[in-house]
This record gives sequence, structure tokens and C-alpha cells, in this order.
Amino acid sequence: MLLIRNGRVLRGKHWTRANIIISDSGKIVDVFRSVNAKGYLLSKVDTIYNARGYLIFPGIIDMHVHFREPGLEWKEDFESGSKAAIAGGVTIVADMPNNKPPINSLERYLRKIKLAEKKSYCDFLLYIGLPEDPSQLLKFLEEKDNIPMPAGVKVFMYNPKEENTVLNKDLPKDFLYVFHAEDYRYFTEISDCNDYSAFEKSRPKEAEISAIQKIVGILEKRDLRAHVAHLSSYEGLLEIVRAKKKRFKISTEVTPHHLLLTKDHGRKLGGIAKCYPPLRSELDRRMLFRGLLQGYIDAIASDHAPHSLEEKMKDLCDAEPGITGVQLLLPLIFTLAKKAHVKNFRPIIRALSENPARILGLKKRGRIKIGYYGDLVIFNHRKEWKISPEVLLSKSRVTPYEGMKVKGWVLATFLRGRLVYENGEFLERIGICARSVQ
Ligand code: DOR
Ligand code: ZN
Repeated sequence: MLLIRNGRVLRGKHWTRANIIISDSGKIVDVFRSVNAKGYLLSKVDTIYNARGYLIFPGIIDMHVHFREPGLEWKEDFESGSKAAIAGGVTIVADMPNNKPPINSLERYLRKIKLAEKKSYCDFLLYIGLPEDPSQLLKFLEEKDNIPMPAGVKVFMYNPKEENTVLNKDLPKDFLYVFHAEDYRYFTEISDCNDYSAFEKSRPKEAEISAIQKIVGILEKRDLRAHVAHLSSYEGLLEIVRAKKKRFKISTEVTPHHLLLTKDHGRKLGGIAKCYPPLRSELDRRMLFRGLLQGYIDAIASDHAPHSLEEKMKDLCDAEPGITGVQLLLPLIFTLAKKAHVKNFRPIIRALSENPARILGLKKRGRIKIGYYGDLVIFNHRKEWKISPEVLLSKSRVTPYEGMKVKGWVLATFLRGRLVYENGEFLERIGICARSVQ
């Protein structure tokens, strides 16, 4: 058994002293304040990790990453992506299906699981793309008892074919449908390739609002579970809040970049800050943060979208869209919360771990609780450092956060009770499909 001693975990609203005992099967056996009362258990401990008063977070579950494999390994692969994840305290990722070829059949899905299991340092789930003929999805359900089910089905609403499929065809209700919510009818030609405001206007928030309204329209007719990815606007948030109040099965996520950056940053950074949906205004940013703290936004997800330096250094017309974030997610969010003098970390911890576990249907993950897996992050909350490309483990080291001062550093990561990362070193590679873990 393993004892992680002298850490601090969030109980209610407060960080309190905690010792955690983890069994050899990787599950949390006990969490307690003082070691004195636990003589019986302590006699069974054979390994001790001293957490020295640092904060202990539940392993982060990032439900939106693009690790680019198969097909675009020069941008990222499962090894580099999952190392970046683990070094950032992310113990489970859900990877998107926009690969080459796209993951939209059972065969490709199973092949990708095998490939990821050979290379992944973190546990993972895989999304599948929406097949043109949704009856293909039934094939997955027929195999339900034999294969790990996908994280969900990704729907790119800005793709007219996919929009048409979800609006008009019957979809099985067994999946989580994750929507890239932008309605292409609102897209216009960008008027100036060097002006971020022009880029933002070319994919305006109206596109997001309209797509969310359509998604809610689907939920009015059919009993499905929908998740809106990378929410970017205040009005989009209001649509979601309304739908939640009507008790539809809808959840949403926000990225660190939409919580920290605005189109003003975009003005200086150009292609480096290009992403879909675009960075919006300071008001949108603030309201998204407020929505997160109020619990209306369920999850924080990085939308880690690596591209090469050359692809990002182009102007706003030609640069590839996407911002990386799986490794920086925790320090960025911690710093943001500290700067905003957030008193209660509970909604943030929920959005980082507990809620993604629930949305993805992962049992015994995402909480520091007896019976749950020992997915834990030892976090030096006092360390201040400046973000530089050298610390990044993604193949894509271009980041809009370069030079930003942040507070908080991941010292060590435990995955299912195993110390897999400590002080920059990877000690074990044990990542598997998270649905294979019982
Ligand atoms: O910025 C983005 N990058 N948005 C997307 O929807 C796709 C992603 C990517 O795969 O690069
Ligand atoms: Zn994405």
C-alpha cells in the first residue's frame, strides 16, 4: 500500500491537511487528517510519498484533445500528447476523431485504440466521428459487451452534411453527442487577413448561438444527450442556461484560451491565436468565467489542437486553427482563479475532474474519495514561473501564453495509484482505454 502524506485536499470550500492511502489495486482506501489514528492501516504501508504541504488535485480529465494520430503524427502523436497531459496533471483524455482517415467506423476505432494503448502515458477515451449513415452507429452498440464504448460522437455542425444528418436522421440515444457548435450560414469571408477582429467577425458569435439553438431544437424532439464543446460567447452560455433550466440533457465545456484570452490578445498574436471558435470580447471572457464559477459550465477542456510552427506563423487567413493547452491547463486555471480572488475552488475542481467523469460515464474516476482510483496531482501552488516553449512536451511548442507568468507547478502525477511522473521524469507508461478500467 501507498501512503501520500501531508498534502492538502479541498474539503468543502477549504484546503485541509490530508493523508491518502492507496491499495495495490490503485484505489483510494482512506483519506484522513492525522496519521495518529490510523495505526492499523499504516502498518500495511510499504511506500510513502511526502506531499510536503502541497495541494493535491484529483487527476484532471480533459474531455477534448486532438492527439492527431493516426495520420498527422508530425503535429502530435499519442506519446508526445499523453506525456504533455501527464506532465500537466491530466490523467485521462478524450481524443477527437478528426484524424486521417477520420475515425468514423468500428474498424478504425478499434485500430486507433490499439495504437493508443501502445503509446499512451495517460488513460484515454476516443470519440468517433458522425458517420454519414448513422445506422453505422448501431454496429458499436451491437458490440457493446465486447468492446470499450467510445467517449461519444463528435458532430461538426459547421459541416453541412453533418448538420443535415443530426437534424434530419434518427440517432441512437445511447451515445453522448459532442457538438462543435458553429452554424456555417453565419460565416463570411474575412475582410483583412491581419486583423483578428475581422477574423472574429468572419465566424461571429451568432454562428454559435444559432447552432446551440438548433441543438436544443433536437433535444426538444428527441431524447438525446448533447454536449457543447468550447463555448465562446456570453449569449451562447445564456442559451445553454435556458436549456438546462428546461431540464434538457445538455452540458458544456470552456477552454482555457476562451477563459484567459480575448481578441485583443489575438490582435498581437495573429495566427498563433487563431482558433475555432475565435477568441471573443472581454465581456464574453468574464461571463464564461462567471458561468464556470456558478456551475453552468460543466467542464474545462483544453481543446489541445497542435499544429506546426510554420502552420501557425501564417496570417489569419492561412494559419491553421487551434491552440495547445493540455499541459498548461491546471497552472493557467489556477492562476486565473487566484488573480480573480476566487474563494471557493469547488466548481473549478468539479469542472476539471468530477464533471467530465460523469459526462463521459467514467465510474470511480475524478474524485479524491474512498473507493475511487488514485488519480492524483501533486501541485506546488506557490511556485511562480514564466511560460516558455522549452517546458512544453507537445510537438507543437508554439503558444499564445509564451512569456505569461503563472502560479502553480505540477510536481508529480499518480495514475491509478502509480507514480507515473515526478520532477520532469516519466517513471512508467501504463495508459489504457479508461473504459477497460473497472
Ligand atoms: O481551433 C480548432 N482546432 N478548432 C477546431 O474545431 C478543430 C481544431 C483542430 O483540430 O485543429
Ligand atoms: Zn477540438
